[in-house]
Amino acid sequence: MSATDVLVKFTGVQKSYDGSTLVVRDLNLDIQSGEFLSLLGPSGSGKTTTLMMLAGFESPTAGEIFLAGKPITKTPPHKRNFGMVFQNYALFPHLTIADNVAYPLTVRKVPKAERESRVNKALDMVHLAGKGERFPGQLSGGQQQRVALARALVFNPQLVLMDEPLGALDKQLREHMQIELKELHRKLGLTFVYVTHDQSEALTMSDRVAVFNDGLIQQIDRVTQLYETPVNRFVAGFVGDNTVFNGQVVAINGKSCSVQLPCGSMLTGVNVNQAASSNPVKACIRPERIHPHFAVDRPAANCLQATVDDVIYFGDHLRLRCKLAQQAEATVKIALASQTVPEPGDSVWLHLPQEHLRVYR
Ligand SMILES: Nc1ncnc2c1ncn2[C@@H]1O[C@H](COP(=O)(O)OP(=O)(O)O)[C@@H](O)[C@H]1O
Ligand SMILES: [Mg+2]
Repeated sequence: MSATDVLVKFTGVQKSYDGSTLVVRDLNLDIQSGEFLSLLGPSGSGKTTTLMMLAGFESPTAGEIFLAGKPITKTPPHKRNFGMVFQNYALFPHLTIADNVAYPLTVRKVPKAERESRVNKALDMVHLAGKGERFPGQLSGGQQQRVALARALVFNPQLVLMDEPLGALDKQLREHMQIELKELHRKLGLTFVYVTHDQSEALTMSDRVAVFNDGLIQQIDRVTQLYETPVNRFVAGFVGDNTVFNGQVVAINGKSCSVQLPCGSMLTGVNVNQAASSNPVKACIRPERIHPHFAVDRPAANCLQATVDDVIYFGDHLRLRCKLAQQAEATVKIALASQTVPEPGDSVWLHLPQEHLRVYR
């Protein structure tokens, strides 16, 4: 990442609302020009506070925020030239759709003729051409959010900030809008910063994701890296499904370690965050990385014996719920076209490839 690619830089940013608890702790973050960055994390982890500091509605308790190399920590929101869409960022109900979208241009004193052509272009972009004369109350929730988006984009902002903008929409519409947002991002080449608590939404749309917990970024990565190589237990559990085995480290061998399970079985996996001998750990694997073998004898190393408890049909794959001795149930995903379709009661060997089994202290 070259320095010229960085549009926004947070250095040592902290925020406390009450003067004692830090809800954002030591935030150091570079946002690259043109990227779609999501801030993902559970409720209360500091995502909105971070976005509000970037927007200028909250000021940091410590640290500095830079835009294109210049400090903006003291710049008021309306001078930052950012587009914003929030879940409850209501439209003006007494103004038409066209006037709502025109609003940022009106306050910037853009001449009427240019205003009209830009409003039409923006409405066209969000598939609402011809709806300009209506009022917000005459549109559906999804259409209103598109108007809010058009209003955020119409003045060619330097940065677009969105906070759970699809949160109020039903699943189908939300997924549709996710694709449209991603498409718009690609077309416009603007920098998007998007807050969500929904991991699948973040994975679907983003170039990079910053995972927040407890006021700290736990990991910031491109989506595939985030999914394939979580750096700690929290990220592993928050992003994507995991099958988890509890155990204790008995040996360290370079980047891998051996873990003994309460049932006595041994597993080898990647020692992700420096677990030491005798540490209690969680060995985690994505359910689609587990290979079930319906054989009598142990087919390979790193296998656990289990019994199929339930077979659940998911349309595009099957999920097996498997019972193991002295462990929580294990979930296994298998392709529909797979060899044998198991039945409840079948015994199965679960092969956990060493490179996909990630051990976290
Ligand atoms: N205006 C505020 N005044 C006091 N506390 C706040 C305010 N806004 C947020 N908080 C607190 O700061 C923490 C982080 O909140 P927030 O940034 O909204 O998290 P998120 O968006 O990840 O859910 C929470 O504990 C929340 O209660
Ligand atoms: Mg929030």
